[in-house]
Amino acid sequence: MSRPAAELEIVRAMSPDVIRHVWLNNKRHFAPDMSDELWLERAALRTSLDLGPGVEHKIWILVPKGRANDPSAVLSAAHTYDRAGLISDVIKTERKSDEVSVHLRDTIIVYVLLVFTPAEHRKRGYAKQLLVLLNDQLKRQTDPVVELSFLYSSIGQNFYESAGWSTIRSRELLIQVSSHRLPELSPSLPSQSTQGDAAAAVADNQGIMMEDITEFNVQRITDDDIELIRSEMRERALANANASPSLSLSQSQRVAVILPEGRLFQGQLAMARFTTGRVAMDDRPISRIGVQLISTGIVSARQQQPVFIIWTYLMPSKLLLILRVRYQTVHQLQCLLWEAMKEAHKWGITAVSLWDLDDIDAVAATGIPNTDRSGCWSCLCQLPQGTSSGGGVMTQALASVPLAAPVELVLNEAYIFGL
Ligand SMILES: CC(C)(COP(=O)(O)OP(=O)(O)OC[C@H]1O[C@@H](n2cnc3c(N)ncnc32)[C@H](O)[C@@H]1OP(=O)(O)O)[C@@H](O)C(=O)NCCC(=O)NCCS
Repeated sequence: MSRPAAELEIVRAMSPDVIRHVWLNNKRHFAPDMSDELWLERAALRTSLDLGPGVEHKIWILVPKGRANDPSAVLSAAHTYDRAGLISDVIKTERKSDEVSVHLRDTIIVYVLLVFTPAEHRKRGYAKQLLVLLNDQLKRQTDPVVELSFLYSSIGQNFYESAGWSTIRSRELLIQVSSHRLPELSPSLPSQSTQGDAAAAVADNQGIMMEDITEFNVQRITDDDIELIRSEMRERALANANASPSLSLSQSQRVAVILPEGRLFQGQLAMARFTTGRVAMDDRPISRIGVQLISTGIVSARQQQPVFIIWTYLMPSKLLLILRVRYQTVHQLQCLLWEAMKEAHKWGITAVSLWDLDDIDAVAATGIPNTDRSGCWSCLCQLPQGTSSGGGVMTQALASVPLAAPVELVLNEAYIFGL
């Protein structure tokens, strides 16, 4: 028998016994082969990482009211990280309705992971209730304000959609490292997605040098990247608004981005080192998390923009997951992917995965088409301020929440993987 919603509450787990209990429950499903000690050591490393001011790790539990410190009372649990995000809003000038300006807002996007119900409590609606109450709590939060929550589902779309999330369609380029050769390519081909200009392509001919991205220079590269993301979001929102001036504000689309963070990438490197050294017992050091291309030729202003790739090592799934890539020509993209393939090969990793690359660039650079991403769905939930489903009433209440202008897309969302 499930307990009535009114008897339950969601609280942040603070007791060490409860936290340990939740982690060990997670291990049973997410890492059944790892020893308890190693898993707890990994959990301690993960929670001790300094991931920056906007990135705090929290564990939430659904329990009967008043039993927050009792491990045996945990009915369902989830972890969250607060992530720095950016939303672009289009604003119409009051006097001239066809004039628009773009406003960029910093926001918090809460990333939800490791949703888990102990086996003996399953199929009683507890996970759904936990998720709904968590979103309710986030909606009420004022410092900082949270506008979106985000998660990856490995159990399909239905369950999370019934709890208020919508699924974001996403594409994946999967390169099998041992069997794939990149096509021969002329260095003068500009990319489709960035509309790389001819000058950039010519400059690309002048020669390029590589620099490893490590824990020491990733912050600088990421800071530059964020500046570019800001200006690109502004350009894109203006172009969208101008392309469809007849849309009302509530119809015009907002774009949300989870920002890359240097400290997060450093954290992912620390986790990969733990997995390699302690779990796989491979004592070779992982020294880099990507490469940056430096042009040595005559460069155009556009060419001076950073060209780089950042990856993370998903050792258990033998996958090198590309977290971030920035390029202007297909040749640059190819150089970057080639480095990623070499890195994967070095570690016995079988495939390189890159999400949401431009379709034309994917084929031009690799000869492989993107496919719809399956097995891992990105889900986004909008959390309009001042609305809540009122203490545990579930899907009907969520359905009646008036949504703000829809968020078109979350770009760059693979940042958290590997933690
Ligand atoms: C998924 C999970 C959290 C659901 O917990 P729960 O408290 O039983 O969930 P609820 O009772 O609120 O909802 C049950 C629904 O979950 C969904 N669900 C559960 N396991 C699922 C699976 N493996 N695949 C697809 N859907 C699943 C179903 O839609 C189910 O509905 P049904 O009863 O009509 O079949 C729980 O099964 C679990 O902990 N599994 C192991 C960890 C995991 O897979 N976490 C999710 C990672 S994205």
